[in-house]
Amino acid sequence: MFERDKEGRAVLGGAPLDPILDEVGTPAYVYDLDAIRREARELGEGFGEARHLVAYAVKANSAGPILRALAAEGCGADVVSGAELALALASGIAVDDIVYSGVAKRDEEIDLALSSGEKGILAIQAESVEEIPRIEARARAKGKRARVSLRINPGIEAETHAYIATGHDEAKFGIPKAELERAIDALRAAPNVDLVGLSSHVGSQLTSTDAYVTAAQMLLPLATVCEAALERGLSFIDFGGGFGIDYGPGCPVRPRDFAARITELCRTARRDDLRIVVEPGRSMVASHGVLCASVIMEKRAQPGDQVREWLMVDAGMNDLLRPALYQAFHRIEPLETLPPPLGEGRVMRVVGPVCESSDDFGNHAMPLAPVRRVVIRDAGAYGFTMASEYNGRALPTEVFLERGRVAQTIVPRSPAQWVAERLGRS
Ligand code: LLP
Repeated sequence: MFERDKEGRAVLGGAPLDPILDEVGTPAYVYDLDAIRREARELGEGFGEARHLVAYAVKANSAGPILRALAAEGCGADVVSGAELALALASGIAVDDIVYSGVAKRDEEIDLALSSGEKGILAIQAESVEEIPRIEARARAKGKRARVSLRINPGIEAETHAYIATGHDEAKFGIPKAELERAIDALRAAPNVDLVGLSSHVGSQLTSTDAYVTAAQMLLPLATVCEAALERGLSFIDFGGGFGIDYGPGCPVRPRDFAARITELCRTARRDDLRIVVEPGRSMVASHGVLCASVIMEKRAQPGDQVREWLMVDAGMNDLLRPALYQAFHRIEPLETLPPPLGEGRVMRVVGPVCESSDDFGNHAMPLAPVRRVVIRDAGAYGFTMASEYNGRALPTEVFLERGRVAQTIVPRSPAQWVAERLGRS
């Protein structure tokens, strides 16, 4: 948990951040593994006694220590590439608890999913009718049976940013409900493919359960349609991820509320026989990671009537892309002192060193006294995983906390190594 100690210094997971940064430098992501474990447990409670699987969406944060912690909590994984699949397995996630989503899986990636473990992974999620004969061909070539689920595009407009809404008709994701018959025909023509589940995913950062529940209500009867048409029972139904978190303005629902609603829906539909799968990414990690940066300098300019003040920090859009890509707002606070009370201090535009206008984290209240370091909050999801080395900038260091101490650190390659690689010498 992110909090302040008696002196107002920023603390994560019981560890004051400043001394850690003196050690590892900035920019650095710091994560609270204990809070991530608690998050997994709390979500699990939402399902009550119902059989379920929390397939953590690895794309949100693929760090080994996080995957190992979630594996120990009994989580599975939702992966979107062969490399994520290999990482999930190497982190101790059970092969039977892994689903593989993605609109365009390569043959080698399908092969890896089919040949992992004895029976392959829990399911390759077919995102188009065209994928079914491709999976069939790979299964035949490998002499394997393929466990597949159909990812249905529910055709629902979720109230979220257009770039992360995935369940509407224009999205490249999933099989439209209207195409289900065609998918069933393709499955009948695929003797090495077993349909084991149905899935959907509406979008990300959902702050109400409405769209999620609507999609679930649409999906449940389709399970019966598939079972009747193919004369076999499904083993799971996967409602996807998307549970929103509080980036500052509040979030009226918790992930366990989504779990409780869909569990109730399955019960009333008398489908308790199906294992309920969810694929949360953001909600598992976002609030439990911060990005820490040092202030490089302040800049002040008065081009007209108004004075402008910039706080230039050593983390940029290459470290945390969300503000540049989605106009996402992350709270930024001074690290050594409390932020000033409302209306006091000064409003500064926090920007990074990258040569792009969009390298801009927005306006934030800062004290009048100079600030040495800042903490960018709720950066645990889609932070490091979307980071790049743009502008020849090294990837940020990552620090993992457990019981108030540094349990592990991941240090990226150095700028000197980057130079060698660009020269083709590595
Ligand atoms: N399952 C599928 C099939 C997905 O496409 C996604 C996310 C998830 C699960 C996990 O969703 P979550 O629980 O994290 O909302 N980079 C964006 C978010 C992109 C989400 C893409 N799909 C951001 O930073 O907001």
